[in-house]
Amino acid sequence: MGGFGYPKRREQPKKHEGEGSMASNKRLLVLPGDGIGPEVMGEVRRVIDWMDRRRAVSFDVEEDLVGGAAFDAHGTPLHDNTMARAHEVDAVLLGAVGGPKWDSLPFGQKPERGLLRLRKEMGLFANLRPALCFEALVEASSLKPEIVSGLDLMIVRELTGGVYFGEPRGIEELPDGERRGINTQVYTTEEIRRVAAVAFELARKRGSKLCSVEKANVMESGVLWREEVTKLHGEGYEDVELSHMYADNCAMQLVRYPKQFDVIVTDNLFGDMLSDEAAMLTGSLGMLPSASLGATDETGRRKALYEPVHGSAPDITGEGKANPLATLLSFAMALRYSFDLADDADLIERAVEKVLADGKRTGDIAGPGGQAISTEAMGSALIEELDRMAA
Ligand code: NAD
Ligand code: IPM
Ligand code: MN
Repeated sequence: MGGFGYPKRREQPKKHEGEGSMASNKRLLVLPGDGIGPEVMGEVRRVIDWMDRRRAVSFDVEEDLVGGAAFDAHGTPLHDNTMARAHEVDAVLLGAVGGPKWDSLPFGQKPERGLLRLRKEMGLFANLRPALCFEALVEASSLKPEIVSGLDLMIVRELTGGVYFGEPRGIEELPDGERRGINTQVYTTEEIRRVAAVAFELARKRGSKLCSVEKANVMESGVLWREEVTKLHGEGYEDVELSHMYADNCAMQLVRYPKQFDVIVTDNLFGDMLSDEAAMLTGSLGMLPSASLGATDETGRRKALYEPVHGSAPDITGEGKANPLATLLSFAMALRYSFDLADDADLIERAVEKVLADGKRTGDIAGPGGQAISTEAMGSALIEELDRMAA
């Protein structure tokens, strides 16, 4: 493994001017999805267009349907043609899926199944969820400033296994008329080792600390998880400081003293929950990006899907209140990991930092009584800032 990372700021790689200028167009499949997905993606598209015009890189952007939008058009949350395109492109950027309109659909047709199919069939087993507290947002967190100021941690969530996909699963009728819902938590050695290897590699590029999280006190899959991570540590990652923690304690430690963590590696379900929790350390779910990565192939290429951690936010859909920054920062992760355009990723991250420092806030990060701007106004502020920075 190797060749990628989300380095701590002090270790950002050096910039090379003109990087990407010789490359052919980058293929990006954009799947806005449902709810606020299309709203936030609209602002990200403006930034992509800006990059096409102003930077030495251009993108072939294709757009398609996923989730409820795909169900409404095709009767399935992910059309086979869309799945095929996702395999072909260099990277996929997804908004959000789901919403009350589709909640009563049969399980296999729910919007969320579209996203799960993308993750599974693309083999995206490592989901990188960085929680970084921008200095300007220290006050927006529900925690005390000294707890979150300077926070920079990375959750590596296993994404294609565990209880999300384990068999048997289903809802069954029992002879006495009772019903029983079943899901199975299951992990193999290889599933644990490959995601742990990604986490060790990342830790090495950051603060060299890895905390592996499970519930080995009550789950056999957790016992195996701990044993395999420990074994892999001894097979060439001794330079990384490894610790183990039960998931319930980790949930508590994240709000008690989150800066004790550098990289956390955990399973699919614990990773889902702990990353939503970590989002509030940064101020809002609207701020947290993610990268879902597959294995590297012989050519050094890896399949990848970039997605904010948040969902379709039905409670604010259509009101122009959504924060587009999690999706924009997910696009920045695509630039860094799939397109090797660290300069451009830096540029976007610095523009976000500056816009926040100038006091621009969507409602989720405005704080009580604070002045909130619209999704579109946030997009405009970003474009203005990018213009200034590139002048
Ligand atoms: P959610 O993340 O959509 O919303 C939780 C809360 O955070 C809401 O109050 C919402 O308004 C707020 N929020 C989320 N993103 C925001 C943003 N960008 N700007 C401002 N506020 C934001 O979670 P939920 O309400 O539990 O789920 C709603 C739907 O989304 C469900 O159908 C769920 O399955 C789906 N979902 C999809 C994804 C995804 O597509 N990756 C992730 C999580 C949930
Ligand atoms: C996430 C979401 C998804 C998950 C849902 C929408 C399938 O909550 O990406 O965090 O549970 O993985
Ligand atoms: Mn989630």
